[in-house]
Amino acid sequence: MNKGCGTLILAAGKGTRMKSNLPKVLHLMLEEPLISYPISASHEAGLDDVCVLVGNEGKAVESYLKKNEDVTVAWQTEQKGTGHAVLCAESFWKEFDSVLVMPGDVPLISPETLREFKSQYDASGSVCSVLTFDVDDPTGYGRIVRCNDKVSIVEEKDASADIKKIREVNSGIYLFNTNELAIAIKSLTNDNAAGEYYLTDVLTILQDRGLKVSALKIGVPDEFNGVNNQLQLAQVTEIARKKIVEKLMLEKGLRCMDPGTVWIGPRVKIGNNVTIYPSVQLWGDTVVDDEVFIGSFSVLRSCYIQKCANLKGSVRMNNGSVGPRASAGPFAFMREGAVLLENAHIGRFVEIKNSVVGESSMVPHLSYVGDTTIGTHTNLGAGTITCNYDGVNKNKTVIGDHCLIGSSTMLVAPVTVGDWVSTGAGSVITQDVPSDALGIARAKQQNIENWAQLHRKDIKK
Ligand code: UD1
Ligand code: CA
Repeated sequence: MNKGCGTLILAAGKGTRMKSNLPKVLHLMLEEPLISYPISASHEAGLDDVCVLVGNEGKAVESYLKKNEDVTVAWQTEQKGTGHAVLCAESFWKEFDSVLVMPGDVPLISPETLREFKSQYDASGSVCSVLTFDVDDPTGYGRIVRCNDKVSIVEEKDASADIKKIREVNSGIYLFNTNELAIAIKSLTNDNAAGEYYLTDVLTILQDRGLKVSALKIGVPDEFNGVNNQLQLAQVTEIARKKIVEKLMLEKGLRCMDPGTVWIGPRVKIGNNVTIYPSVQLWGDTVVDDEVFIGSFSVLRSCYIQKCANLKGSVRMNNGSVGPRASAGPFAFMREGAVLLENAHIGRFVEIKNSVVGESSMVPHLSYVGDTTIGTHTNLGAGTITCNYDGVNKNKTVIGDHCLIGSSTMLVAPVTVGDWVSTGAGSVITQDVPSDALGIARAKQQNIENWAQLHRKDIKK
């Protein structure tokens, strides 16, 4: 049954120049794998059915895709060229009227360009359109040769000196009528300098059969930048980073005195009137609500920061959640499952893991809080530690409302402290403390009079 337009992303190539064991399309741009970008561009352009062709290190790519993306996977076990690659995925694209083919290593491609390309293709009456762009240095690209009404693509390796001068090049992005593609692709040969089956030759085959092919120049050149090595990866990353930050500044009023040092991943959501100081990184599916302040050197991965929260700088947080008007830092580390409820505060040199700090409660200085629930309006004194690990198990600490935990209290879990409890500074609390009690557990102080005189050199004995 034929229906709509499918997308085929080619990602079976080697990526040798990345000099890495990691498959090229799994290298990260703004902490997201390269392959995720053409997939989301296709989805955002309204082309929902996507197939990714894998090959080299294909198992790793396939397992990433199965876990994270809604796509079909096809295999090309031996890399015999882009034409052969498209043929390997025929069982996917033959189900559609048309297919968009694009490389997996062009992460800057925009949904707007894909949408425009599709609509110009639809209007052109062509059975194939190739997306082209002009470039100052065309080295390495297939050149677009326009002759009368015909279009052909000549690869660098096969090009004459004159053709090498052409600056209009093939982006590697095409739309095909699948019925015609199915016929033409079977007559490809590998009779060229590279000994490969070139997809680009399909254009000539189609025109030789009297069918119309068009070359469409759409989009801005940066969009087609391919990633072949680590330097190009850093260059495209900078373009993507800048685009995201500038868009947030213009559309959401993001305040950023130094936008060049702010890093925000493509899935991060930012509300209105947010302020971000220099050298901040926000990754994954972090959500930042309105009026939040994020101080310098903060690094957040997949966190939820609610309205008017204040991250005072150097806050590191993974999968954490910060309630409205709550605050953290400077120098705070919130690990997996750390939750600050409304108006809570954690301060300098505090580490929180898998714990809830209740409404209006505070852990202001030098503490470790793990596997703990803290009620409301409770204050943990400087240096409070929850001793959650006994060498075998992680144990829980429960602290009630309105408590005053004395400085340097060790809470040896499992342990429960009721409401309105105080503990003596320096106590090692190994037993539960009932509500309203003072828990104190430390040696009673003795003062030995004149002890210094035994040691002082300035006193004659
Ligand atoms: C290709 C085009 C060239 C165009 C350029 C744009 C051909 C013959 N040439 O050249 O005109 O200017 O892209 O970047 O198509 N791939 C496979 N299996 C293979 C071979 C390639 O999946 O057997 C994939 C690669 O992973 C890559 C894409 O196809 O994503 C393009 O292949 P690549 O070898 O980079 O083609 P180029 O030589 O750059
Ligand atoms: Ca390439």
